[in-house]
Amino acid sequence: MSKLFSPLRLRETTFRNRIFVSPMCQYSCVDGLATRWHLVHLGSRAVGGAAAVLAEASAVCPEGRISPGDLGLWSDAHAEALAETAAFVREQGAVPGIQLAHAGRKASTAAPWDGGAPVPKEAGGWEPVAPSAVAFAPGHPTPRALDAAEIDAVVAYFVAAARRALAIGFELVELHMAHGYLLHEFLSPLSNQRDDDYGGSFANRTRLPLRVARAVREAWPARLPLFVRLSATDWVEGGWDLAQTIELAKAFRGLGVDLVDCSSGGLAPHATVPAGPGFQVPFAEAVRLEAGIPTGAVGLITQPKQAEEIVATGRADAVLLARELLRHPYWPLHAAEVLGADIDWPKQYLRARR
Ligand SMILES: Cc1cc2nc3c(=O)[nH]c(=O)nc-3n(C[C@H](O)[C@H](O)[C@H](O)COP(=O)(O)O)c2cc1C
Repeated sequence: MSKLFSPLRLRETTFRNRIFVSPMCQYSCVDGLATRWHLVHLGSRAVGGAAAVLAEASAVCPEGRISPGDLGLWSDAHAEALAETAAFVREQGAVPGIQLAHAGRKASTAAPWDGGAPVPKEAGGWEPVAPSAVAFAPGHPTPRALDAAEIDAVVAYFVAAARRALAIGFELVELHMAHGYLLHEFLSPLSNQRDDDYGGSFANRTRLPLRVARAVREAWPARLPLFVRLSATDWVEGGWDLAQTIELAKAFRGLGVDLVDCSSGGLAPHATVPAGPGFQVPFAEAVRLEAGIPTGAVGLITQPKQAEEIVATGRADAVLLARELLRHPYWPLHAAEVLGADIDWPKQYLRARR
């Protein structure tokens, strides 16, 4: 019996297997509005058999976009543009999810295929904000430090976006607290140099991420799961690390977060990341064991047997795949065949089943 293809129940949601589509920016929106691309892109991966399809980092306010082409969820029009995608994903038997995000000091950059450089105001960009006025990297603008009222507004933006996601049928929200974006910037002492209640000690650096999680959990129905994505380490001495991740994960468990999606890096451009097959799985394993919360493993998981091993040996409760699912949207159907799991195929495709 394949564990990868066994159902996972979190709150009142049953995931048909343990394969989730990792959120991936598509840089294909105009003014933050989803397009037909999102329907077809996310829809195909739901057809492909994933148990949850997470829409990309969706900005909770316009200045929270990484690029001008990012998806947003800061108005009802933005929600409306995504409604059909959420419905289609659900119709295919996958849980429609969405990652809510604020890019912080890494906002206002060009899409990767346009070079990814900062986009200045005069070229349609905007001023990035952050915990402190510390630039991400040389050549990047110095962000403006948020004041206390603006920090309160960030919490409200996340809550409003979660409510909109619910209204259009999303059944899973993931809070993006990884990859060097705003909430990760608050966590890491490398980017957070505040001397008020939001900086310095562990309690202060985690204050905003915990406020966001608590407020969204209150607004998000008790029957539906809430995930948090963390960078388990900055891969830099003196930065955010696994020990702090475990402590924070314990606090999230207490707040009713249902799964911690364990990624890494993204905050310090000079960090050396030892990327290789499954290189972030040890983080998912440690958080699961030591914080006692379900985890997702992500990063260079590409092989059915590799994914099976991760879940079957209890290193994570689910795997999230990104690039492999861009290459092969129907990877879960293929993985089931390799692992000998008998799963339902879309009936339209049954004649292709071996
Ligand atoms: C095109 C692309 C866009 C991405 N956008 C996001 C995103 O919106 N949010 C996020 O948390 N990670 C994002 N990531 C990171 C992936 O979710 C994933 O963590 C990473 O690619 C490692 O997994 P993989 O080896 O399976 O690709 C993106 C990755 C790619 C390739």
